[in-house]
Amino acid sequence: MAILLTGGMGFIGSHTAVELINEGYEVIIADNLSNSSPKVLERIETITGTKPLFYEIDVAVKKDVEKVFDENKIEGVVHFAGYKSVPESTRIPLSYYRNNIDTALTVLEVMKERDCRTFVFSSSATVYGDKNKAPFNEEMPTSTSTNAYGNTKLMIEQIVRDFSASWEDFSAVLLRYFNPIGAHPSGLIGEAPDGIPNNLMPYITQTAVGVREFLGVFGTDYDTPDGTGVRDFIHVVDLARGHVAAIGYALKSKGTEAVNLGTGNGSSVLEVVHTFEEANDLKIPVKLLPRRPGDVATSFALATKAKELLGWEAKLTLFDMCKDSWNWQKNNPKGYN
Ligand code: NAD
Ligand code: UD1
Repeated sequence: MAILLTGGMGFIGSHTAVELINEGYEVIIADNLSNSSPKVLERIETITGTKPLFYEIDVAVKKDVEKVFDENKIEGVVHFAGYKSVPESTRIPLSYYRNNIDTALTVLEVMKERDCRTFVFSSSATVYGDKNKAPFNEEMPTSTSTNAYGNTKLMIEQIVRDFSASWEDFSAVLLRYFNPIGAHPSGLIGEAPDGIPNNLMPYITQTAVGVREFLGVFGTDYDTPDGTGVRDFIHVVDLARGHVAAIGYALKSKGTEAVNLGTGNGSSVLEVVHTFEEANDLKIPVKLLPRRPGDVATSFALATKAKELLGWEAKLTLFDMCKDSWNWQKNNPKGYN
Protein backbone atom coordinates (compact mmCIF):
# COMPACT_ATOMS: atom_id res chain seq x y z
CA MET A 1 0.00 0.00 0.00
CA ALA A 2 1.51 3.29 -1.08
CA ILE A 3 0.88 7.02 -0.90
CA LEU A 4 1.12 8.84 -4.24
CA LEU A 5 2.60 12.34 -4.11
CA THR A 6 1.77 14.34 -7.23
CA GLY A 7 4.29 17.17 -7.49
CA GLY A 8 6.39 15.27 -4.96
CA MET A 9 9.69 16.49 -6.42
CA GLY A 10 8.92 20.09 -5.43
CA PHE A 11 9.76 22.04 -2.28
CA ILE A 12 6.95 20.84 0.00
CA GLY A 13 6.46 17.46 -1.71
CA SER A 14 10.09 16.41 -1.29
CA HIS A 15 10.04 17.23 2.44
CA THR A 16 6.76 15.35 2.79
CA ALA A 17 8.24 12.32 0.99
CA VAL A 18 11.05 12.26 3.58
CA GLU A 19 8.68 12.46 6.56
CA LEU A 20 6.30 9.82 5.15
CA ILE A 21 9.20 7.42 4.48
CA ASN A 22 10.51 8.07 8.00
CA GLU A 23 7.08 7.05 9.31
CA GLY A 24 7.19 3.77 7.36
CA TYR A 25 4.96 4.68 4.39
CA GLU A 26 5.76 3.53 0.87
CA VAL A 27 5.98 6.67 -1.27
CA ILE A 28 5.47 7.02 -5.03
CA ILE A 29 6.11 10.33 -6.79
CA ALA A 30 4.51 11.59 -10.01
CA ASP A 31 5.95 14.86 -11.32
CA ASN A 32 6.67 16.39 -14.73
CA LEU A 33 9.71 18.30 -13.37
CA SER A 34 8.27 21.59 -14.69
CA ASN A 35 9.47 23.27 -11.48
CA SER A 36 11.84 20.74 -9.93
CA SER A 37 15.03 18.78 -10.50
CA PRO A 38 15.56 15.04 -10.98
CA LYS A 39 18.33 15.34 -8.37
CA VAL A 40 15.68 15.55 -5.63
CA LEU A 41 15.19 11.79 -5.86
CA GLU A 42 18.81 10.97 -4.95
CA ARG A 43 18.69 13.53 -2.15
CA ILE A 44 15.58 11.88 -0.68
CA GLU A 45 17.44 8.56 -0.88
CA THR A 46 20.51 10.01 0.86
CA ILE A 47 18.37 11.33 3.71
CA THR A 48 16.09 8.32 4.19
CA GLY A 49 17.94 5.37 2.66
CA THR A 50 14.94 4.77 0.38
CA LYS A 51 14.47 5.89 -3.22
CA PRO A 52 10.79 6.43 -3.97
CA LEU A 53 9.39 5.01 -7.20
CA PHE A 54 9.24 7.95 -9.62
CA TYR A 55 6.99 8.56 -12.65
CA GLU A 56 7.95 11.52 -14.83
CA ILE A 57 4.46 12.35 -16.07
CA ASP A 58 2.04 15.23 -16.41
CA VAL A 59 -0.65 14.38 -13.88
CA ALA A 60 -3.27 16.15 -16.00
CA VAL A 61 -2.91 13.30 -18.52
CA LYS A 62 -5.38 10.64 -17.47
CA LYS A 63 -3.87 7.57 -19.11
CA ASP A 64 -0.52 8.30 -17.44
CA VAL A 65 -2.10 8.61 -14.01
CA GLU A 66 -4.12 5.44 -14.64
CA LYS A 67 -0.86 3.62 -15.39
CA VAL A 68 0.52 4.62 -11.98
CA PHE A 69 -2.61 3.23 -10.32
CA ASP A 70 -2.49 0.05 -12.46
CA GLU A 71 1.11 -0.68 -11.53
CA ASN A 72 0.76 0.03 -7.79
CA LYS A 73 -1.68 -0.30 -4.94
CA ILE A 74 -2.30 3.35 -4.09
CA GLU A 75 -3.99 3.89 -0.75
CA GLY A 76 -4.02 7.67 -0.75
CA VAL A 77 -2.93 10.73 -2.74
CA VAL A 78 -1.33 13.98 -1.63
CA HIS A 79 -1.88 16.41 -4.48
CA PHE A 80 0.89 19.04 -4.60
CA ALA A 81 1.19 19.33 -8.39
CA GLY A 82 0.40 22.77 -9.74
CA TYR A 83 1.83 26.15 -10.59
CA LYS A 84 2.35 28.48 -7.62
CA SER A 85 3.60 31.93 -8.56
CA VAL A 86 1.11 34.70 -7.77
CA PRO A 87 2.60 37.35 -10.13
CA GLU A 88 3.04 34.83 -12.96
CA SER A 89 -0.60 33.81 -12.55
CA THR A 90 -1.70 37.38 -13.26
CA ARG A 91 0.33 37.34 -16.52
CA ILE A 92 -0.71 33.88 -17.77
CA PRO A 93 -3.97 33.09 -15.95
CA LEU A 94 -5.16 30.50 -18.45
CA SER A 95 -2.06 28.34 -17.90
CA TYR A 96 -2.75 28.48 -14.17
CA TYR A 97 -6.39 27.50 -14.57
CA ARG A 98 -5.49 24.80 -17.11
CA ASN A 99 -2.70 23.21 -15.09
CA ASN A 100 -4.05 23.54 -11.56
CA ILE A 101 -7.67 22.61 -12.29
CA ASP A 102 -6.88 19.89 -14.86
CA THR A 103 -4.40 18.10 -12.60
CA ALA A 104 -6.88 18.08 -9.71
CA LEU A 105 -9.77 16.83 -11.90
CA THR A 106 -7.68 14.08 -13.49
CA VAL A 107 -6.36 12.81 -10.17
CA LEU A 108 -9.84 12.78 -8.62
CA GLU A 109 -11.36 11.02 -11.65
CA VAL A 110 -8.75 8.27 -11.55
CA MET A 111 -9.16 7.92 -7.79
CA LYS A 112 -12.89 7.37 -8.28
CA GLU A 113 -12.33 4.83 -11.06
CA ARG A 114 -9.79 2.91 -8.99
CA ASP A 115 -11.67 3.21 -5.69
CA CYS A 116 -8.92 5.19 -3.94
CA ARG A 117 -10.66 7.10 -1.15
CA THR A 118 -8.06 9.21 0.60
CA PHE A 119 -7.01 12.66 -0.64
CA VAL A 120 -4.94 15.48 0.81
CA PHE A 121 -4.76 18.79 -1.06
CA SER A 122 -2.24 21.66 -0.95
CA SER A 123 -4.47 24.66 -0.42
CA SER A 124 -3.36 28.04 0.85
CA ALA A 125 -4.18 30.68 3.45
CA THR A 126 -4.78 32.92 0.44
CA VAL A 127 -8.39 31.57 0.41
CA TYR A 128 -9.11 33.74 3.51
CA GLY A 129 -8.85 36.81 1.25
CA ASP A 130 -8.53 40.37 2.55
CA LYS A 131 -11.82 40.76 4.48
CA ASN A 132 -11.20 38.42 7.41
CA LYS A 133 -9.22 39.45 10.48
CA ALA A 134 -6.35 37.25 11.74
CA PRO A 135 -6.18 34.76 13.36
CA PHE A 136 -7.86 32.98 10.45
CA ASN A 137 -10.00 30.00 11.40
CA GLU A 138 -11.42 27.35 9.11
CA GLU A 139 -15.02 28.47 9.67
CA MET A 140 -14.41 31.93 8.20
CA PRO A 141 -15.87 32.72 4.78
CA THR A 142 -13.38 32.30 1.95
CA SER A 143 -13.16 34.73 -0.94
CA THR A 144 -11.82 35.09 -4.46
CA SER A 145 -8.42 36.70 -4.99
CA THR A 146 -7.04 39.37 -7.24
CA ASN A 147 -4.95 36.64 -8.86
CA ALA A 148 -5.65 33.43 -10.77
CA TYR A 149 -3.38 31.34 -8.52
CA GLY A 150 -5.47 32.03 -5.42
CA ASN A 151 -8.67 31.45 -7.35
CA THR A 152 -7.53 28.00 -8.47
CA LYS A 153 -7.05 27.04 -4.80
CA LEU A 154 -10.55 28.22 -3.95
CA MET A 155 -12.05 26.42 -6.96
CA ILE A 156 -10.26 23.15 -6.23
CA GLU A 157 -11.46 23.29 -2.61
CA GLN A 158 -15.01 23.57 -4.00
CA ILE A 159 -14.46 20.75 -6.51
CA VAL A 160 -13.24 18.48 -3.71
CA ARG A 161 -16.24 19.36 -1.52
CA ASP A 162 -18.72 18.65 -4.34
CA PHE A 163 -16.96 15.41 -5.18
CA SER A 164 -16.89 14.40 -1.53
CA ALA A 165 -20.63 15.05 -1.24
CA SER A 166 -21.20 12.57 -4.08
CA TRP A 167 -19.13 9.74 -2.59
CA GLU A 168 -19.80 8.83 0.99
CA ASP A 169 -16.62 6.78 1.50
CA PHE A 170 -14.31 9.50 0.20
CA SER A 171 -12.13 11.39 2.65
CA ALA A 172 -10.23 14.60 2.00
CA VAL A 173 -8.21 17.11 3.97
CA LEU A 174 -7.76 20.56 2.44
CA LEU A 175 -4.55 21.82 4.01
CA ARG A 176 -4.38 25.60 4.09
CA TYR A 177 -0.68 26.38 4.33
CA PHE A 178 0.49 29.64 5.81
CA ASN A 179 4.06 30.68 4.86
CA PRO A 180 6.37 27.68 4.48
CA ILE A 181 10.08 28.48 4.78
CA GLY A 182 13.18 26.65 6.06
CA ALA A 183 14.64 23.47 4.63
CA HIS A 184 15.59 19.96 5.73
CA PRO A 185 18.36 20.27 8.37
CA SER A 186 20.64 18.07 6.22
CA GLY A 187 20.85 20.96 3.72
CA LEU A 188 20.15 18.46 0.92
CA ILE A 189 16.63 19.56 -0.08
CA GLY A 190 15.07 23.01 -0.02
CA GLU A 191 13.32 25.68 -2.04
CA ALA A 192 14.92 26.40 -5.41
CA PRO A 193 13.01 29.22 -7.09
CA ASP A 194 13.56 29.80 -10.78
CA GLY A 195 14.69 33.41 -11.47
CA ILE A 196 13.95 36.32 -9.14
CA PRO A 197 12.12 35.06 -6.03
CA ASN A 198 8.75 36.58 -5.11
CA ASN A 199 8.66 35.25 -1.59
CA LEU A 200 10.47 36.72 1.37
CA MET A 201 12.81 33.96 2.58
CA PRO A 202 14.34 32.99 -0.79
CA TYR A 203 14.92 36.69 -1.41
CA ILE A 204 16.69 37.02 1.96
CA THR A 205 18.91 33.96 1.35
CA GLN A 206 19.79 35.10 -2.17
CA THR A 207 20.75 38.49 -0.76
CA ALA A 208 22.88 36.78 1.89
CA VAL A 209 24.63 34.65 -0.74
CA GLY A 210 25.31 37.75 -2.88
CA VAL A 211 22.99 36.99 -5.83
CA ARG A 212 20.81 40.03 -4.89
CA GLU A 213 22.19 43.36 -3.74
CA PHE A 214 19.57 44.13 -1.07
CA LEU A 215 16.19 43.03 0.22
CA GLY A 216 13.33 45.40 -0.60
CA VAL A 217 10.93 45.59 2.36
CA PHE A 218 7.46 46.11 0.84
CA GLY A 219 5.54 48.49 3.09
CA THR A 220 6.47 50.08 6.41
CA ASP A 221 3.14 51.77 7.17
CA TYR A 222 0.94 48.77 7.91
CA ASP A 223 -1.07 48.68 11.13
CA THR A 224 1.40 46.22 12.70
CA PRO A 225 3.88 46.60 15.61
CA ASP A 226 6.76 47.76 13.38
CA GLY A 227 4.76 48.79 10.29
CA THR A 228 5.91 45.85 8.12
CA GLY A 229 3.71 42.94 7.04
CA VAL A 230 3.07 40.12 9.50
CA ARG A 231 2.94 36.45 8.41
CA ASP A 232 2.72 33.02 10.00
CA PHE A 233 6.01 31.48 8.89
CA ILE A 234 6.12 27.72 9.30
CA HIS A 235 9.11 25.38 8.99
CA VAL A 236 8.69 23.14 5.94
CA VAL A 237 9.63 20.09 8.03
CA ASP A 238 6.77 20.87 10.44
CA LEU A 239 4.51 21.38 7.42
CA ALA A 240 5.62 18.02 5.98
CA ARG A 241 4.81 16.31 9.29
CA GLY A 242 1.39 17.95 9.08
CA HIS A 243 0.84 15.98 5.86
CA VAL A 244 1.77 12.72 7.59
CA ALA A 245 -0.83 13.54 10.26
CA ALA A 246 -3.41 14.48 7.60
CA ILE A 247 -2.91 11.24 5.66
CA GLY A 248 -3.15 9.23 8.90
CA TYR A 249 -6.41 11.00 9.76
CA ALA A 250 -7.90 10.78 6.25
CA LEU A 251 -7.17 7.05 5.96
CA LYS A 252 -9.59 6.38 8.82
CA SER A 253 -12.24 9.06 8.17
CA LYS A 254 -14.94 10.07 5.73
CA GLY A 255 -15.91 13.50 4.43
CA THR A 256 -13.91 16.67 3.79
CA GLU A 257 -12.22 18.95 6.30
CA ALA A 258 -10.26 22.17 5.74
CA VAL A 259 -7.35 22.48 8.17
CA ASN A 260 -4.86 25.32 8.68
CA LEU A 261 -1.17 24.43 8.80
CA GLY A 262 0.42 27.33 10.59
CA THR A 263 2.17 27.98 13.89
CA GLY A 264 -0.52 30.34 15.17
CA ASN A 265 2.07 33.14 15.55
CA GLY A 266 2.75 36.09 13.32
CA SER A 267 6.22 37.56 12.68
CA SER A 268 6.92 40.80 10.86
CA VAL A 269 9.17 41.11 7.82
CA LEU A 270 11.77 43.03 9.86
CA GLU A 271 11.58 40.44 12.64
CA VAL A 272 12.42 37.74 10.09
CA VAL A 273 15.34 39.78 8.76
CA HIS A 274 16.72 40.34 12.28
CA THR A 275 16.26 36.70 13.31
CA PHE A 276 18.01 35.60 10.10
CA GLU A 277 20.93 37.93 10.86
CA GLU A 278 21.18 36.66 14.43
CA ALA A 279 20.83 32.95 13.58
CA ASN A 280 23.49 33.10 10.88
CA ASP A 281 25.73 35.92 12.06
CA LEU A 282 25.18 37.82 8.82
CA LYS A 283 24.02 41.26 7.75
CA ILE A 284 21.18 41.66 5.22
CA PRO A 285 21.14 45.04 3.45
CA VAL A 286 17.53 46.27 3.28
CA LYS A 287 15.79 49.06 1.38
CA LEU A 288 12.42 50.28 2.67
CA LEU A 289 9.95 50.38 -0.25
CA PRO A 290 6.24 51.08 -0.81
CA ARG A 291 3.62 48.35 -0.27
CA ARG A 292 3.36 45.51 -2.80
CA PRO A 293 -0.10 45.50 -4.43
CA GLY A 294 -2.33 42.66 -3.26
CA ASP A 295 -0.60 42.17 0.13
CA VAL A 296 -2.58 42.03 3.37
CA ALA A 297 -1.14 43.59 6.55
CA THR A 298 -1.44 40.58 8.82
CA SER A 299 -1.98 36.88 8.23
CA PHE A 300 -1.69 34.16 10.82
CA ALA A 301 -3.55 30.98 11.66
CA LEU A 302 -5.71 29.79 14.45
CA ALA A 303 -3.91 26.45 14.73
CA THR A 304 -6.22 24.61 17.14
CA LYS A 305 -8.15 22.51 14.58
CA ALA A 306 -4.96 20.82 13.33
CA LYS A 307 -4.10 19.91 16.91
CA GLU A 308 -7.56 18.61 17.80
CA LEU A 309 -8.33 16.78 14.55
CA LEU A 310 -4.91 15.66 13.34
CA GLY A 311 -2.96 15.64 16.61
CA TRP A 312 -0.35 17.86 14.94
CA GLU A 313 1.24 21.13 15.93
CA ALA A 314 4.26 23.06 14.69
CA LYS A 315 7.34 22.69 16.90
CA LEU A 316 10.21 24.47 15.16
CA THR A 317 11.00 28.15 15.77
CA LEU A 318 11.66 31.12 13.51
CA PHE A 319 15.33 30.78 14.51
CA ASP A 320 15.33 27.15 13.24
CA MET A 321 13.65 28.27 10.00
CA CYS A 322 16.28 30.98 9.42
CA LYS A 323 19.20 28.65 10.23
CA ASP A 324 17.94 25.85 7.97
CA SER A 325 17.04 28.19 5.09
CA TRP A 326 20.59 29.53 5.12
CA ASN A 327 22.16 26.08 5.53
CA TRP A 328 20.34 24.98 2.35
CA GLN A 329 21.17 28.15 0.38
CA LYS A 330 24.86 28.26 1.28
CA ASN A 331 25.34 24.57 0.44
CA ASN A 332 23.38 24.97 -2.81
CA PRO A 333 23.96 28.55 -4.00
CA LYS A 334 22.40 27.70 -7.39
CA GLY A 335 19.67 25.43 -6.07
CA TYR A 336 19.96 21.95 -7.61
CA ASN A 337 22.07 23.18 -10.58
P1 NAD B 1 6.82 23.47 -6.21
O1 NAD B 1 6.66 24.20 -7.50
O2 NAD B 1 8.17 23.36 -5.61
O3 NAD B 1 6.23 21.97 -6.38
C1 NAD B 1 5.18 21.68 -7.27
C2 NAD B 1 5.60 20.48 -8.10
O4 NAD B 1 4.55 20.15 -9.01
C3 NAD B 1 6.86 20.73 -8.96
O5 NAD B 1 7.81 19.71 -8.73
C4 NAD B 1 6.35 20.69 -10.40
O6 NAD B 1 7.32 20.16 -11.29
C5 NAD B 1 5.13 19.79 -10.26
N1 NAD B 1 4.08 19.99 -11.28
C6 NAD B 1 3.47 21.13 -11.67
N2 NAD B 1 2.56 20.86 -12.62
C7 NAD B 1 2.57 19.52 -12.83
C8 NAD B 1 1.85 18.64 -13.68
N3 NAD B 1 0.93 19.08 -14.54
N4 NAD B 1 2.13 17.31 -13.62
C9 NAD B 1 3.08 16.84 -12.77
N5 NAD B 1 3.79 17.62 -11.94
C10 NAD B 1 3.53 18.95 -11.98
O7 NAD B 1 5.80 24.09 -5.17
P2 NAD B 1 5.68 23.89 -3.59
O8 NAD B 1 6.12 25.13 -2.94
O9 NAD B 1 6.28 22.60 -3.20
O10 NAD B 1 4.10 23.83 -3.46
C11 NAD B 1 3.39 22.61 -3.53
C12 NAD B 1 1.91 22.90 -3.54
O11 NAD B 1 1.60 23.67 -2.38
C13 NAD B 1 1.44 23.72 -4.73
O12 NAD B 1 0.16 23.26 -5.12
C14 NAD B 1 1.35 25.13 -4.18
O13 NAD B 1 0.41 25.91 -4.86
C15 NAD B 1 0.89 24.86 -2.75
N6 NAD B 1 1.24 25.95 -1.82
C16 NAD B 1 2.55 26.35 -1.72
C17 NAD B 1 2.88 27.40 -0.85
C18 NAD B 1 4.30 27.88 -0.72
O14 NAD B 1 4.51 28.92 -0.12
N7 NAD B 1 5.31 27.16 -1.23
C19 NAD B 1 1.86 28.02 -0.10
C20 NAD B 1 0.55 27.57 -0.22
C21 NAD B 1 0.26 26.52 -1.09
C1 UD1 C 1 2.45 35.15 -1.13
C2 UD1 C 1 1.24 35.15 -2.01
C3 UD1 C 1 0.26 34.10 -1.51
C4 UD1 C 1 0.95 32.73 -1.46
C5 UD1 C 1 2.18 32.85 -0.57
C6 UD1 C 1 2.96 31.56 -0.49
C7 UD1 C 1 1.07 37.46 -2.85
C8 UD1 C 1 0.27 38.71 -2.84
N1 UD1 C 1 0.64 36.48 -2.02
O1 UD1 C 1 2.02 35.44 0.16
O2 UD1 C 1 -0.86 34.03 -2.35
O3 UD1 C 1 0.06 31.75 -0.94
O4 UD1 C 1 3.04 33.87 -1.10
O5 UD1 C 1 3.50 31.25 -1.74
O6 UD1 C 1 2.04 37.34 -3.59
N2 UD1 C 1 8.18 40.79 1.27
C9 UD1 C 1 9.10 41.79 1.23
N3 UD1 C 1 10.10 41.73 0.31
C10 UD1 C 1 10.21 40.69 -0.59
C11 UD1 C 1 9.26 39.66 -0.54
C12 UD1 C 1 8.25 39.74 0.40
O7 UD1 C 1 9.04 42.75 2.02
O8 UD1 C 1 11.15 40.71 -1.41
C13 UD1 C 1 7.11 40.85 2.29
C14 UD1 C 1 5.71 40.87 1.69
O9 UD1 C 1 5.33 42.18 1.39
C15 UD1 C 1 4.90 40.23 2.84
C16 UD1 C 1 5.89 39.24 3.48
O10 UD1 C 1 7.18 39.68 3.07
O11 UD1 C 1 4.56 41.20 3.79
C17 UD1 C 1 5.69 37.81 3.02
O12 UD1 C 1 5.69 37.78 1.59
P1 UD1 C 1 5.66 36.43 0.75
O13 UD1 C 1 6.77 35.54 1.20
O14 UD1 C 1 5.61 36.80 -0.70
O15 UD1 C 1 4.31 35.71 1.19
P2 UD1 C 1 2.79 36.29 1.21
O16 UD1 C 1 2.72 37.69 0.80
O17 UD1 C 1 2.21 35.94 2.51
